[in-house]
Amino acid sequence: MEKIKNYLEENKDRFLEELFDLIRIPSISAKEEHIDDMFKATKYIQQKLYDAGADKVEVIPTTGHPVIYGEKIIDPAKPTVLVYGHYDVQPAEPIELWKSPPFEPEVRDGKIFARGADDDKGQMFMHIKAFELMNRLNLLTTNVKFMIEGEEEVGSPSLKQFCIDNKEKLKADIILISDTTMIANDIPSITVGLRGLSYMEVEVTGPNRDLHSGLYGGAVANPINILTKMIASLTDENNHITIPGFYDDVEEVSKEERAEMAKAPFNLKTYKNELDIDEVVGEKGFSTIERTGIRPSLDVNGIWGGYIEKGAKTVLPSKAYAKISMRLVPNQNSKKIDELFIKYFESIAPKGVKVKAKSLHGGEGYVSPTDTPAYRAASKAYTETFGKKPIPTRSGGSIPIVSDFEEVLGIKSILMGFGLDSDAIHSPNENYPLFNFYKGIETIPYFYKYYSELKK
Ligand code: BES
Ligand code: MN
Ligand code: MN
Repeated sequence: MEKIKNYLEENKDRFLEELFDLIRIPSISAKEEHIDDMFKATKYIQQKLYDAGADKVEVIPTTGHPVIYGEKIIDPAKPTVLVYGHYDVQPAEPIELWKSPPFEPEVRDGKIFARGADDDKGQMFMHIKAFELMNRLNLLTTNVKFMIEGEEEVGSPSLKQFCIDNKEKLKADIILISDTTMIANDIPSITVGLRGLSYMEVEVTGPNRDLHSGLYGGAVANPINILTKMIASLTDENNHITIPGFYDDVEEVSKEERAEMAKAPFNLKTYKNELDIDEVVGEKGFSTIERTGIRPSLDVNGIWGGYIEKGAKTVLPSKAYAKISMRLVPNQNSKKIDELFIKYFESIAPKGVKVKAKSLHGGEGYVSPTDTPAYRAASKAYTETFGKKPIPTRSGGSIPIVSDFEEVLGIKSILMGFGLDSDAIHSPNENYPLFNFYKGIETIPYFYKYYSELKK
């Protein structure tokens, strides 16, 4: 439609400026000192939703960071699309590795560089602008609701309860989310699988105080030595996870489906080049795409203890810690995996140390069906604006709340992500190409159009 393109062209600079203003608010959910910024971000988004044409927008307190709820009901008899996104971002550390300050957005080489440029401010904001465009051009054929949360990056601790408490308000036919990636700008894809997550913190305690590593070294168990051995034993030589029962509920994907997955374009050489690695490492018997898409994994996210400042201090530490995450596949249950992990981790602790393991957060995976009006509408929308039919793919990432949406609200989600793997989300120099930002805004209205046609 010519008028969509024209509206975009006429307003593109303003759209970008508005996104920049949102990015400049450092809404880092993990850090208490940013509590005012969280509030500022909600107020900003509330205003933008009103400006875009929402009838009612509320900033609703939760036990954690507030949720923004907005709506425009054009006709209760028409289908309703509920847009979900998050305004919180990951911490920016290590700051010194950023080429420009993380909360001062800058365009270089056609990309927006900033924390949140993609995840999820850039992607979420596309929906507000697409909503504005549809209102101004009289294209809206469905009711629209928005639920933008501020705790996604810390595991959405309040959102499930929020959904339980607001079930009626959140009633919708489909949840629309842009918080995932596509294969490439010339190979559009739709994410149909997300992994679940089980995130643990472990503590190993040896002697009751830090000791002189000469006077005691060799005679007393060193918790860091022990912890690293314990972690090493969690996977075997085939990169199989050794926790008993871990794979019990893993759904084996059929040969046919694996063959279908293998058709998705993937270049191992480019993959390795982009990461500066000379080999990929993962579970034996599976391809790289399969290792992240249909198989679980276990990773240490951080490990600490002892002396880590400049220079040398001879110390045999009293304690060692690690944060360990397990990505799960659909049908595995994160609570069950937490228990299996804790039981096993405690069981492999040698005499001479005490071990504690606890779960920090987690959630379930999700598989989105492809034989639905929502998938078909999304597929037609991408085909319209990218000129190519999108490929269904399974992502390795997690948005645990998506399975809660289905459980609590009984609503399925469609993942129309416009990010790229190279956007460096959660890393220094996170970025989002302008192409993707504008293409997203252009594509979203077609989803609404086709969805209302196909939903009848
Ligand atoms: N947007 C990401 C998840 C994502 C990114 C899924 C790319 C698929 C492709 C989300 O903000 C995120 O980072 N999720 C966390 C989980 C959460 C519980 C902290 C993750 O996957 O680590
Ligand atoms: Mn995200
Ligand atoms: Mn994220």
